[in-house]
Amino acid sequence: MRIAMIGTGYVGLVSGACIADFGHAVVCVDKDTAKIELLRRGEIPIWEPGLHDLVRSNVREERLSFATNLEEAVREADAVFIAVGTPSRRGDGYADISHVYQAAAAIAAALNGFTVIITKSTVPVGTGDEVERIVREIRPDADFAVVSNPEFLREGAAIHDFKHPDRVVVGTNDDRARQVLADIYRPLSLNQAPIVYTSRRTAELIKYSANAFLATKITFINEIADLCEKVGTDVQEVARGIGLDNRIGGKFLHPGPGFGGSCFPKDIRALIKTAQDHEVPLRILEAVVAVNDNRKRAMARKVSILFSGALRGRVIGVLGLTFKPNTDDMREAPSLALITALQDMDAKVRVFDPAGMEQAKAVLNDVTYCDSAYSCADAADAIVIVTEWEQFRALDLGRLRDLMACPVVVDLRNVYRAEEMHRHGFIYNCVGKRPATPILSDGGSYEQLLWAMRPPLPAS
Ligand SMILES: NC(=O)c1ccc[n+]([C@@H]2O[C@H](COP(=O)([O-])OP(=O)(O)OC[C@H]3O[C@@H](n4cnc5c(N)ncnc54)[C@H](O)[C@@H]3O)[C@@H](O)[C@H]2O)c1
Repeated sequence: MRIAMIGTGYVGLVSGACIADFGHAVVCVDKDTAKIELLRRGEIPIWEPGLHDLVRSNVREERLSFATNLEEAVREADAVFIAVGTPSRRGDGYADISHVYQAAAAIAAALNGFTVIITKSTVPVGTGDEVERIVREIRPDADFAVVSNPEFLREGAAIHDFKHPDRVVVGTNDDRARQVLADIYRPLSLNQAPIVYTSRRTAELIKYSANAFLATKITFINEIADLCEKVGTDVQEVARGIGLDNRIGGKFLHPGPGFGGSCFPKDIRALIKTAQDHEVPLRILEAVVAVNDNRKRAMARKVSILFSGALRGRVIGVLGLTFKPNTDDMREAPSLALITALQDMDAKVRVFDPAGMEQAKAVLNDVTYCDSAYSCADAADAIVIVTEWEQFRALDLGRLRDLMACPVVVDLRNVYRAEEMHRHGFIYNCVGKRPATPILSDGGSYEQLLWAMRPPLPAS
């Protein structure tokens, strides 16, 4: 089958490369000429494990190509995916679907023979109806069907997720379109991925509801983590204890600095707005947004508490900037609010991320960029682990401690065990646990240890 993928970002490029790998002929189109030139030179504009090899092999087999000319790609295609961005509309939180509508209009002009137009972008309920109206208005003669096929891949595991999805959701009432989608995704039947056929509007809402539920789960365990810290229990044990219940499930029960990224924040805001327009306030999601926003800055207070609330002049090393490991995506990363809060307290911030530094430079000011975790720790008063990159899971703790001015580690992803950190001489704070009391030779308390190890304030 011949396929055009409109929008060659995280979703469009991964989907295009995977669908080409299924054996279809795919042209990935983008209006960003620099991006297309890069791809034509064999370079990958995003950091996604395995993507380089997948793109290279499918280009070599002549199943995958890149273009800026949308008309030509659509004219040849049996199916056209729309995978353009749907960011938050500036100022009001609605999804900005103008790129989807622009793409729809451009597609309409080039339609040639029966074509299935498939919205893969995350769009509010009813967007497919409007796409159909736009296309029909421009091309009353065209033979086409508009389908919703939302994407559930996770950045950092995108290829695996695309090829081994929990389900594929196809929203259409058109039998011919259904057949085309079944043909595109046929290779997935080997992996026994269920295809959920439903109406277009239902498919659109499934995507938002899935993201909203996952964000709620994260926010729930984050609040339970706060309670654990007060009542002296361990949130990881609580999460395991509830997660083993099949009705709940263990995934997305990891406490941390709050959710971020390119999808959850904008999608939840957009869903709340859609619901408000239909006079159905989504109070739980409104609370999720408020709690999550608060939490990112609260993480900076977790650091300042260890310095009696005074961070002026302190050097804080931040390990991990991206919203999750294995991506370079900095969109709405919790590190941004955390670093701003540290800077508001007049701390000096050093940062290191294995992949996100270039993207970070566009959005982060007045920080020192370091070239490794160890140079980030050099002369630091505290290290904050914000993103659980594999590289940060097995740091040489002795080396780290020797480099630091003050051996304080605030682990916002619970990567390390308190006993191990104390053994290496760190003052260690994590999420959702009361710090274990280290054994002091004089039998003193953890608080005394903190006080004893508290470094002198820098000379003003
Ligand atoms: N990133 C994710 O993990 C993820 C996961 C699931 C769903 N989604 C959804 O998929 C959609 C795309 O997300 P993304 O992260 O890939 O976005 P992105 O910003 O990385 O990429 C979008 C691309 O579309 C291009 N584009 C915009 N208008 C165009 C047009 N008219 N013609 C050609 N190209 C055009 C842009 O230049 C850009 O390269 C969004 O709706 C998002 O919510 C994203």
